Amino acid sequence: MTEPIRTAHVLGGSSDIAAAVLEHLARQGLERTVLALRSPDAEPAAATPSGVQCTLLRWDAVEIDSHRVLVERAVEALGRIAVVICAVGMLAHHAGLGMGPADVDEMVRTNFAGPAAALSVVADRLVEQGSGTIVVLSSVAAARARKSNYVYGSSKAGLDTFAQGMADALVGTGVGVMIVRPGFVRSSMTEGLDPAPFATDPDVVAAAVVEALGKGRRGVVWVPPLLGPMLGVLRNAPTGLWRRIAGDR
Ligand SMILES: NC(=O)c1ccc[n+]([C@@H]2O[C@H](COP(=O)([O-])OP(=O)(O)OC[C@H]3O[C@@H](n4cnc5c(N)ncnc54)[C@H](OP(=O)(O)O)[C@@H]3O)[C@@H](O)[C@H]2O)c1
Repeated sequence: MTEPIRTAHVLGGSSDIAAAVLEHLARQGLERTVLALRSPDAEPAAATPSGVQCTLLRWDAVEIDSHRVLVERAVEALGRIAVVICAVGMLAHHAGLGMGPADVDEMVRTNFAGPAAALSVVADRLVEQGSGTIVVLSSVAAARARKSNYVYGSSKAGLDTFAQGMADALVGTGVGVMIVRPGFVRSSMTEGLDPAPFATDPDVVAAAVVEALGKGRRGVVWVPPLLGPMLGVLRNAPTGLWRRIAGDR
């Protein structure tokens, strides 16, 4: 058994998946959290689990100069940070051919460049304290690009690869990285989209994350787990076959 998680810092603090993770952590003794989000004034109090002391900090992932200040303020509020959850992300109803340069740039900076820059500060700070786990919400879309959302998929793949390398670099420091690769999750991000096969809910992702954290597991967590072996095969499938399987999704 690992130590109970008392403190959590969330990047992308209004995320439905992150909120579900906090709910699960609250049942296991979470005491304090810092949510970094773009619109703290708009955040409903109900989004915070009851009994957990919550600090809201205004933060935008694409404002690279803000990351150091954010992490220092999170340390001030939390003391030792047990877990950092990176849940920043944007999807569009279409994230492929026809997106303009500004849209592509925004998606890559929001899903990859911004979070990666923030995580580099987070990693330094956790190494200083000698412990902690960084949970990075990647995606099944990172495993292989599809025609309808390759901009999203490639931006998540960038973050996923960054997190893998960071995990290697952190070996021996006491800091670990968990890379979470959910399939389609019914959340604000996917509102209005037809659920993909194996669609799941934030609560299911949260349960998998918190179970893995409880076991001290690091590395990759697929949700649902079946996606791991499936993508192991599909990412190497011949291009023509993959295009037929992925279809218009
Ligand atoms: N839903 C899915 O099907 C699915 C599947 C696999 C992986 N994921 C990943 O899981 C994570 C959480 O997604 P979710 O389903 O919980 O969706 P969500 O509720 O829409 O959460 C995404 C969060 O990212 C925040 N965000 C976007 N741009 C930002 C920026 N520039 N600076 C700071 N925060 C920003 C959003 O804040 P605002 O409220 O300000 O927009 C929102 O809190 C994302 O990384 C997503 O890529 C989701």
